[in-house]
Amino acid sequence: MSTTTRKVHVLWPNGHQTIESIGTDWLQAAADAGIAIPTGCLGGSCGACEIEVNGKVVRACISTVPPSKSRQLTVEFATDPYW
Ligand code: FES
Repeated sequence: MSTTTRKVHVLWPNGHQTIESIGTDWLQAAADAGIAIPTGCLGGSCGACEIEVNGKVVRACISTVPPSKSRQLTVEFATDPYW
C-alpha cells in the first residue's frame, strides 16, 4: 500500500468539479460539491441514493470514491424523475 494520498478529479452534474481522495464516502464528496444526494435507508437497500459514476450505477450511501485510471470521474444522477 502506498502512503501517498491518491486523488481523483470529480465532475458533478451541477457543473462543479472537486478533487476527492479515493475512499471518500460519496455522500461526503457530494456535500463538498454542494450537492445533496437524496437518501433513504442509508444501508444500501432502498436505492434512493443511486448515482452513476462513469456510467456505472452505485449506491452512494454504501460506496466510496473509487480509483480511476484516468484520474477523472463523471457523476450523473441515476435515471430518476426528480432530477
Ligand atoms: S439510502 Fe437507501 S440505498 Fe442508499
